[in-house]
This record gives sequence, structure tokens and C-alpha cells, in this order.
Amino acid sequence: STAPVKVTVTGAAGQIGYALLFRIASGQLLGPDTPVRLSLLEITPALKAAEGTAMELDDCAFPLLAGIDISDDANTAFDGTSVALLVGARPRGPGMERGDLLSANGGIFKPQGEALNKGAADDIRVLVVGNPANTNALIAQSHAPDIPAERFTAMTRLDHNRAVTQIAQKLGVGVSDVHKLTIWGNHSATQYPDLFHAEVGGRSAAEQVEQEWLENTFIPTVAKRGAAIIDARGASSAASAANAAIDHVHTWVHGTPEGDWTSAAIVSDGSYGVPEGLISSFPVTSDGTSWKIVQGLEIDDFSRAKIDASVAELSEEREAVRSLGLI
Ligand code: NAI
Repeated sequence: STAPVKVTVTGAAGQIGYALLFRIASGQLLGPDTPVRLSLLEITPALKAAEGTAMELDDCAFPLLAGIDISDDANTAFDGTSVALLVGARPRGPGMERGDLLSANGGIFKPQGEALNKGAADDIRVLVVGNPANTNALIAQSHAPDIPAERFTAMTRLDHNRAVTQIAQKLGVGVSDVHKLTIWGNHSATQYPDLFHAEVGGRSAAEQVEQEWLENTFIPTVAKRGAAIIDARGASSAASAANAAIDHVHTWVHGTPEGDWTSAAIVSDGSYGVPEGLISSFPVTSDGTSWKIVQGLEIDDFSRAKIDASVAELSEEREAVRSLGLI
């Protein structure tokens, strides 16, 4: 039998953590043949709640769950870890300016990057879920110089999945009939869900809808879905966010299907005019080890303007954290 793989979840006592941990422990993250050892990182006041969740994990008697460790110390939580899901973050409070938000998150993601650099396993893969996810990933990555930069990723898979369902419902097909959809840019309201390269039934998705629907319904529905969930549920997306985190890591580890791609925010190599080093969402494939940006897509003027606007926001966030000394 294989040795357990250590998986660290930060913000483990939060609502995404609660939706995520049971699925990891049941084998949905790494597959049915890989035992996992869960490491839960929380802030001190939330340790007791994390212990409660650990009790429930025990009570599931998951055959693949080899053990659970709980800590409020990043060095302990990341020591020897192979998968780090960075979910815990500082939400924007009332009256909080962007600089305050970035500083508060710098205080979380800088030490976590340092702790990963010090102790993570050689095969470490990092997914940042906590917002602002792309820039938090950039902060952590910049404090982990010994880890290859491409191991730091941020989550746009929830946006991707939302977009897949919106177009499938519009065209009256199943979600499995939608291929090659892309989320470009930042996980924020400026993100660009791209239907021009997406295919439904072997044909361009964009050609099967009206441009008016694409611009005024599809794009805003996907980009503002998080707010719509809060409005309806009285709480932010949790199970769907956890599901997307599972999807992201599962695809990274097991690879994308032949002839298709997905969306993930990964470090830019300059492709599609996205400045090098930004952690931006792209069309990506995985071979089971690393992500690769799908090359050679033609970008028309409409898409170019949308991608540029979201990437400009990422550049501004990078400038802001640079001037705050966080990277
Ligand atoms: P939550 O508030 O329920 O839980 C966050 C948890 O993080 C809390 O238990 C808190 O104690 C913990 N935490 C705070 N600082 C920490 C630190 N330094 N180390 C370890 N744990 C720490 O929030 P929820 O709903 O679970 O969301 C978590 C994050 O995910 C938020 O930033 C949210 O905006 C983001 N999110 C991102 C999505 C995406 O698509 N990328 C989608 C949905 C949410």
C-alpha cells in the first residue's frame, strides 16, 4: 500500500473548509488509491472548532484517512506537505480600503509562503482559494524562492464551472457537452469567461448564442454569481467553492482529458500578452504533473479588450503589494 500523502487545509474551520475536508478524506481529491493525512491550519481562536470538525472526520471512518493534525503554526502545518489548499484569508470588512485588505492578507500569505518554502515536500502543489486569490498566491510564491513558481496557483475553477453550466442551460445540453471553455484574468468581477473558443456539440459556443446574450447576460451572470449566491443564501459560496478546489487539484494530479482544457490561474510566461510573473487565469492543460497554457488561440478585439481589462487589474494589484513591501 502507498504511504499517505499530506494535505494541508488552511481556514479549516471555515465554511469552505467544512465542505472540503470530508471530500478530501473520502478520496475525491487524490483518488481512491491514495491515503491522505490531513493537516488543518487555523488561527488560535478557531482551533476548537477545527477539533470539532476533526471529530466528525473521525466519525466518518474513512478508509483512506490516515490521520489528522491540527495546528495554529504554519511551520508545523506545512511540514512535509504535498498539497496545500490555502483557503483561510482576511475578508474585506466595512470601510476597508484595498490597501488595508492587501496588507491584512500579506500578513497571512507571506508567512505561509515562508513556511511552505522551509518545510513542504519536494512535490508540493499549492492552490490559493482565499481572496484576493491571484494576488495572495503571488505573495505566497514570492516568499518561497526554493519552490518552482509554477507550483503556486489560484482558483478560477468555480468561475469555469459556473460558466459551463450557464452555457449548457442556455443551449439545453448537458454540462459534459461543453468543452474548451476559458476563464481569463483575475478571480474578480473583471474576469472574462470566453465562449469564442468553447465548443458545444463540436461547434463554436459563441456562434450558437446571440452576442447580446453573451455580453449582457452570460458574462455578468458568471462574473457576479458570487454576489447572487450571497443574496440568495445569506452566505457566500461554500460547497461549490470546495467542489471547484477538488476539481482543480484532481485535474492537476490526474490530467485533463485529451482534446480539452480547463481554467486555472497560473504564473504567466508572457503568453497572450499577460505580463510575465502575474498569476492569471488561462486555458490550461495538465499532464498530471504541471499545467501548460494552451497556445495559439486567436483572440479577437472583443476578447482582447476583456482580457486586457482583467490583466490590468492584476498588474495594479501587483504594484500595490509591491509598494506595500509584500512581494
Ligand atoms: P470563512 O470565514 O467561513 O472561513 C475562513 C477561515 O479562515 C476562518 O475559520 C478563519 O479563522 C480562517 N483563517 C483566517 N486567517 C487564517 C490564517 N492566517 N491561517 C489559517 N486560517 C485562517 O470563509 P470561507 O467562506 O470558508 O471562504 C474562505 C475564502 O475563500 C474567502 O477569502 C473567500 O473570499 C474565498 N473564496 C474564494 C473563491 C474562489 O473562487 N477563489 C470562492 C469562494 C470563496
